[in-house]
Amino acid sequence: MVKILGPVRFIATALTLVLALMIAAPANAQQPTSVNPTAQAVKEEQLLQQLQRLDGRVTIPDQRAGTLIQPAGQDWRTFHQVTLHWIGGIAIVGMFLLLVIFYAVRGTVKMSRGRSGRTITRFTPFERFVHWLTASTFIILALSGLNITFGKTLLIPLIGPEAFAALSQWGKYFHNYLSFPFALGLIFIFLIWIRDNIPGRIDWEWLRRGGGIVGDDHPPAPRFNAGQKGIFWIVVLGGTAVAISGYYLMFPFYAAGISGMQLAAIIHGVVGVLLIAVMLAHIYIGTLGMEGAFEAMSTGEVDLHWAEEHHSLWVEEEMERTGVAHRDTRHAAARS
Ligand code: HEM
Repeated sequence: MVKILGPVRFIATALTLVLALMIAAPANAQQPTSVNPTAQAVKEEQLLQQLQRLDGRVTIPDQRAGTLIQPAGQDWRTFHQVTLHWIGGIAIVGMFLLLVIFYAVRGTVKMSRGRSGRTITRFTPFERFVHWLTASTFIILALSGLNITFGKTLLIPLIGPEAFAALSQWGKYFHNYLSFPFALGLIFIFLIWIRDNIPGRIDWEWLRRGGGIVGDDHPPAPRFNAGQKGIFWIVVLGGTAVAISGYYLMFPFYAAGISGMQLAAIIHGVVGVLLIAVMLAHIYIGTLGMEGAFEAMSTGEVDLHWAEEHHSLWVEEEMERTGVAHRDTRHAAARS
């Protein structure tokens, strides 16, 4: 029995070895000799240095989905996670601090002669509707946009990941759907106010004299002064840029390839945060910064003294339009 076991054990061992070699040989043949199968070879950075991009094979029709990593994508990630944070942080926090300092130094710009008790119509109900449509959708677009940029860093530690996920989902719905009334408001703003926002020589004079904001001067101004014209063009041009780039992002790869998508995202993020900073200044002037300004957009009526101080040429035009030509009788055209 012992004599038989010896050769059987020998044959079994030999067979096992042959089998192991048969399995191992094709596997070895598939491995390129240059690749080190240890962790070193699979480090992302090393692969990128050698290959510049990582493509896989996909069976879905869109072959671009097979690109896993590409150098421009790495740049884009740095932009989104670092550069945009700096640009947005400096612009928005910087503007906020500037306004706090400005308010501390200048305070509210008062009507120098006090209220007259008489008002003049500044904006029609349709103009106010268009303004508030654009402004209210802008505020929600701004908050939901800032959540995409800063929410992960600022909100997760405060409200936790579940609440942040729910908030972001709703934010994304709002951002997508409110873009349409915002874009519509922007088109109307352009159409109804372009006539009064063409820059002219009078605007240089207004700027040279500090616009009545810096100092106590009240330079003559038409319906919109140079500062308001600046805001108009920033809103129209900046709003158009965020709207067009936003629709590129909302309908990915319909009109642009990967580099076009990255450009759209960069334009959208940068113009978006800069617009928010500018709008902070606009909101400040319309509320805390100037006595009597907010009622122009709430009731549509402004005090006559306010109108004469800030838009004297416009008041004269209105008087002529309503048939009251000279200064003493002008108040007759204003509502008591
Ligand atoms: C027609 C108007 C707009 C459209 C179609 C639009 C669309 C979009 C889309 C699709 C995204 C990408 C969302 C995602 O990554 O899931 C986005 C992000 C963003 N939007 Fe808008 N948006 C519009 C207006 C605005 C406005 C007015 C602002 C600012 C006041 C704004 C600020 C932002 C910001 C800050 C981001 C995040 C950028 C980033 O972190 O990369 N958007 N928008």
